[in-house]
This record gives sequence, C-alpha cells and structure tokens, in this order.
Amino acid sequence: MDGKIRWGILATGSIADTFASDLKHSHYGVLFGVASRSFARAQAFCDTHGGTPSHDYAALLARDDIDAVYIATPHDAHVVWAHRALEAGKATLCEKPLGLNQGEVLSLYGAAARNNVLLVEALMYVMHPRMYLARKLVSDGEIGTVTGFSSGFGFSFPFTPEHRLYNRDRAGGGMLDIGIYPLTAARFLLGEPHALSGEARLAPTGVDAEARAILDYGNFAADLHCAIDTDIAWQISVMGSDGKLVIDQPWHSGPDNQSIVVTKADGSVQEFSTAETRPLYAVEADHVADCLQRGDIASDLVSPEFSINTAYWLDRWRTAGGVTYDADTLGPTGFDANPPVAGRHGIMPMMHMDGVDKPISRLVLGTDNQIDAPTLAAMADTFFEQGGTCFDTAHIYSDGVSEQVLGAWIKARGVRDQIVILGKGAHPPDCTPDAMARQLDESLNRLQTEYIDIYCLHRDNPDIPVEEWVDALHAQVKAGRMRVYGGSNWTSARIDAANAYARASGKQGFALVSNNFSLARMEQPVWDGCLASSTDSFRDWHTKTGIALFPWSAQARGFFLDWEAQPLSASRHGADPTIDEMHRVWGSPENLERRRRALELAARKNVSALQIALAYVLHQPFATAALIGPRTPMQLADSLAACAITLDDDEVNWLDLRASDSKI
Ligand SMILES: NC(=O)c1ccc[n+]([C@@H]2O[C@H](COP(=O)([O-])OP(=O)(O)OC[C@H]3O[C@@H](n4cnc5c(N)ncnc54)[C@H](OP(=O)(O)O)[C@@H]3O)[C@@H](O)[C@H]2O)c1
Repeated sequence: MDGKIRWGILATGSIADTFASDLKHSHYGVLFGVASRSFARAQAFCDTHGGTPSHDYAALLARDDIDAVYIATPHDAHVVWAHRALEAGKATLCEKPLGLNQGEVLSLYGAAARNNVLLVEALMYVMHPRMYLARKLVSDGEIGTVTGFSSGFGFSFPFTPEHRLYNRDRAGGGMLDIGIYPLTAARFLLGEPHALSGEARLAPTGVDAEARAILDYGNFAADLHCAIDTDIAWQISVMGSDGKLVIDQPWHSGPDNQSIVVTKADGSVQEFSTAETRPLYAVEADHVADCLQRGDIASDLVSPEFSINTAYWLDRWRTAGGVTYDADTLGPTGFDANPPVAGRHGIMPMMHMDGVDKPISRLVLGTDNQIDAPTLAAMADTFFEQGGTCFDTAHIYSDGVSEQVLGAWIKARGVRDQIVILGKGAHPPDCTPDAMARQLDESLNRLQTEYIDIYCLHRDNPDIPVEEWVDALHAQVKAGRMRVYGGSNWTSARIDAANAYARASGKQGFALVSNNFSLARMEQPVWDGCLASSTDSFRDWHTKTGIALFPWSAQARGFFLDWEAQPLSASRHGADPTIDEMHRVWGSPENLERRRRALELAARKNVSALQIALAYVLHQPFATAALIGPRTPMQLADSLAACAITLDDDEVNWLDLRASDSKI
C-alpha cells in the first residue's frame, strides 16, 4: 500500500463530494475509484476529483485496487452496501447512521468480525482532536462536576416529500440524520446515560421534522434537540459546578473552527484549541488509515460498542417520537437481507436428547432481553451461522415479545425444522396445570409453531401433586404440542417423585432441569423461588439419573466480569444484573476465591475468566447445555470461543475449590 489507503466511494451526492474534496488533504488517503447508480455521474465525479469510475456499486467492490470504501448513500442503503463491502473484504467507512436500528448495526458488526474487516461509522466530528480535547477537559474537572448538558443541530430545509430528509422510504427525519450528533456528543463526552425520554413533531410523511430528547444521567440530564425544518444553534454546552464549556459549530470542526471556550464561575474565560490543520473529512480518512495500519478491525473513537449503543438510543428516541421504518419489522420489506446459512462459521458443540429429533447446540441463546425484531434477528442470524440451534424463551418474557420476535424470525428465515425451542410457562402466580395449558396455547400462537421442542415449567408449585403435573404435561406431549418436558427451578426430590409416578403409569416423565448452575454458586435466589443445581447431591443426581441440565445464568450474570471497575448495565433491561446482586447473590468468600482461580487459569490459557466459567459448565460429568445472554455478536463470539477451551478434571476440581490452591 506504500502507506497510502486507496479509497473507493459509493454514491456521488453532496457528502461524497465533500469527502472527496477533503481527501486530497489527508496524509494517507488517495481516491482510486467512484461508483454511482449512473456511470455518467461516476465519470463526472472522477473528472472533478480523480479516480476511475466503476459501472455500479458492486463493480467497485469487486476491484482489487481498492483498500477501503466510503459508503455515502442515503441511510436506507447503508446496511446492504456495508454488508456487501465487508463480505468483499473492504475496510468500510459507512455514513451515519450505520444502520436504521440496532438490529442492522449488530448484524454489520457480526459481519465485520466474521470477515475480520474494519468497520467504522462515519461520525467525522468525533474523530477530530477537538472532541477528545473537550472530553479531557471535562474529565480533568476543568468545569468541576458536570451538572447539565445541552446540544442542538437544526436547519430549515423546505418540506420536499421525495427528498431523502423527508422520505420515509429513505429513512428520513431529523433524529437519524442530525439528532445523532447531539446524541453521540453527550455520550462521547459524558458516557452512557441510564434512560432516554423524548418527543417528536412529525412531517406529513411520518418522519420527524423536529425532535427533543432528555438523557437521564442520574445526577443531571442532557437536553438534545434537532430539526430539519427549523434553525437551531449548532452547539454543545456542558455545564459544571465550576463553569461551562461551549463548543460552537462542533459538527464542522476544521482548521478555522476548533476552539473550545470555558467560562469559569467567576466569569473568567479561557479558550482552548487544537493545532489540527487538516480539514474534517481528511481527519476522518486518516483515522481509518491509522486503524488499518494498526491492524485493527474497530475504531477506538467510534467503537462497535459506541455505534451499537447509538443505534439503541436512536431506537428508543424514535419509539418515544412515534417514528418507524419498514426495516423495524421482519418481513418482505423489513430486515431480510443476507439469509443466514446454518453453521457456516461454527465450532458449536452439539448434543442429543431422546425425544428431540434435532441436534441441540450446547450454547442456548437466551432471548429474555430481546424486545425488538431486528435486534433478535441480528443475534439469531449470527448464532445460527455459528452452529447454534437452541433458543431459550418463556411465556412471561417481556410480556410475550420475546416469543413473538423469536417466532417471527424462525418463520421469516424458514428454519423451524432446524431450531430447538426451549420454552417455559406456568410462572407464579399462574403455576397450575390449567394455566400451563392456557399459556402454552398463547406461546404456540406467538411463536407461530405447532410444538415446542423442550418445554419447562418455569417454577414448581408444591401445592400441586406431582401426579397432576405429569398427567397434564404427558397429555400435551401426546397432543404433539411439546416433545420433551422438564422443570425450571425444581428440586430433584419432586422430579424423582414425578418420574416414579410417570414410570408406574406408563407416562412420559421429566427429561431435563433448567436450574441455575455456574462456577459461582448462587448463595441467595436471584429472583423469588429460583433454585440452583450446584450442590454436591444435585450434581450426583444429574450424573446418576442422566437428566440433562440446561442452566440459566451459566456465567453467573456478570460475576466473572470486572464488575467492581465497570458499571453493570442494569438500567437497560430488567434481566440485567446490578452491583447489589453481585454482592448479595454471588459475592461469598468461596465464590470470590473461585473467581480468583478463574482469573488465574484464564491468564495461563490466554482467555477470559468469563470464558473459563462457561467452559467449566460445559465440562461436567452430566449433560449440560448452557443458557447465555449475549447482547452483541462480539459477546456471542466470545462465548463461542469458550467452547474451544479444554479443561481437565484437575482444573475443574481446582476451580471449584475441590482441590487446594497448590494443586494446579
Ligand atoms: N457526515 C456528514 O457530514 C454528512 C453530511 C451530509 C450527509 N451525510 C450522510 O451521507 C448520506 C448521504 O447524504 P447526502 O447528503 O450526500 O445525500 P444526497 O446528496 O442525496 O446523495 C446521496 C447519493 O446516494 C446515491 N443513492 C443511492 N441510492 C439512492 C436513492 N434511492 N435515492 C437517492 N440517492 C441514492 C446517489 O448517488 P448515485 O446516484 O451516484 O448512486 C445520491 O447522489 C446520508 O446517510 C447522510 O446521513 C453525512
């Protein structure tokens, strides 16, 4: 490459023109190719900026003389062309928003990881040194403790229904186009908020002409404002106990616009500035070059986590403002690009169970945290491509949304005959055979299927004799509405009694347990009425009876992460852990020692403690399939890598404090 990155640009609109102009001032970038839907436009663009035209976008991606592409199409074409660019092995700088929703963004980072290719969302202003100088000033306490934030971006563009700004089919509206700037500015400078509330005024085309949002940071709030039909000052203000920091025209930093003004409480004013001489998009192109030269597939400034969270908050903002796009649903007009290929990328270990006529992946994808179809689709596609077949859901999860989005994905992908659904029902207070039958009806409807492969009672109800449970569940098996059944949070004694009755009466008995089980032992129930299979007697029972264990929270809900140093994301979803839980449920001296040993072994094997903990669950003398709840394709890949870790019996025993510290 001679130190130069050979760029190709997809599309010839206004931002493509700006990027190409600035690229001439970059240290490492040179324009090599341009593609348009019209060859004449590509030719004219090259006449102005240089490079060689391609006949269409696909032709440019097929060229060997292009290292990196800049996708400058309207929003709705980002995900399709970014996917194709990543598959073609091109480092990809894609205009914001990277995807129309979190699902699209997740799917893109999954593709980037699989293809080992750099993907960066083109939030050019974040890459300018002015923004990280501002972040340093704030974190160094230049304005004291932060007490507030406000930022806006608005311009007055006349209502033009077919223009990309107002056109719903082009994913128009202010939030995605310019609201993303104040939203990312707050989070780049101050970190992730706890919650978002928002509102929007809609244009006749159904997209937002103007929108506001409040980000809740606990001690203070961030005020965001954007509009495409009204002028709003382009500014970032951070208020603090000792002063105020203001960045004027923050979205257009450049050689003549890079100052930061700090006004102290005593009225004194200080101006800070960077010495950057390159224009903004040259800085952006050189940031991509820096990433490539380091061999990175992610930017440290606009990281995958940052962009995934951006999409998450934009989804929340759009929901609050009542703006939806077709891509938010699964279906012919929604998220249906790139159908997944089963096991294309996988090293997934599998197991079999009598009565279930499909291979069962030993990692089971939890869907309790899934609340929208595109996000579930992105995670499910990635899981399926890595050999995952088994999905965990329940009647109670997210008021039925988990079952609905899983069912919609299975149907849209046409993969029912390959998928093992682990479903649950009869959660208290509706823990009776009648309620189970009613809820099963609803679950089958929501899942759009005639049967659940593996069905579990979500809890036990000791007031119901085991005979009644067996009769009711056996009847459902006979009716073809479930293949095998088991108990989640059930004791071995009750299952023994149930199975004794089942044997005596010639009925199908319990085939599995879905209790908690992990390297860290649950000292107190995470939720009321939940049980673990961790005791020695329970483990012996699994081994003796051959009853499989599908443990929930198989990674002890974050206990093996660095939760003392990094905040847990408890505010995002009810299923997310809290620091309080880490202490109350998992933080016993024995568990802390297990965690210490996991960290030690992880360092020796060059993996993470979380992976060691998962490998521990998979290395038991009885059949296990671990329920996991990754939020991103990267977390999923991390868990999958745990399947490749081999632990011998000495290591398993040592991790579990069955051998003294010196034994390994
Ligand atoms: N970072 C920034 O500062 C900044 C500023 C403005 C816009 N943007 C982003 O850049 C993207 C493009 O914005 P823009 O202002 O450059 O838009 P634009 O001027 O309308 O240009 C978009 C280009 O995309 C191509 N295109 C592909 N499919 C299209 C379709 N169905 N309808 C219309 N055009 C289509 C066209 O090029 P061909 O006909 O040659 O294929 C068109 O010229 C947007 O996602 C926007 O958010 C970023």
